[in-house]
Amino acid sequence: MPDETTPDETKPPRLAQGREHVVATVTEIPPGSSKVVPIGRHGVGVYNVGGTFYAIANYCPHEGGPLCSGRARGKTIVDDSVPGDAVMVRDMEFIYCPWHQWGFELSTGTTAVKPEWSIRTYPVRVVGDDVLVTA
Ligand code: FES
Repeated sequence: MPDETTPDETKPPRLAQGREHVVATVTEIPPGSSKVVPIGRHGVGVYNVGGTFYAIANYCPHEGGPLCSGRARGKTIVDDSVPGDAVMVRDMEFIYCPWHQWGFELSTGTTAVKPEWSIRTYPVRVVGDDVLVTA
């Protein structure tokens, strides 16, 4: 019979529930990196932006490109006070489709190109060392 005070029993439950999937460990997706996991027809990209995790559909609504094969970076805004009149802000919070460079906000799935074509994002939570996505 197991000792009820063993450290393993004090850990939070590892198993996901319902439509929640354990997709990675936290160390598999360090800040500034991502992983495409096999959920749904096209997969879901899971991103770690400075310790905050986001999950977004790996499908571009423009012409069906593999969105999460693109680069994550910030977005450009007007700033008249700097040379070139533009600056990059919110580094790594946007994913850009590799086909035609439409950009999508990781936290919301919205695109400034055509907001009515925004895509799905999914809740992510971290339990212990596990990253869980509900999809
Ligand atoms: S298919 Fe993604 S921008 Fe065109």
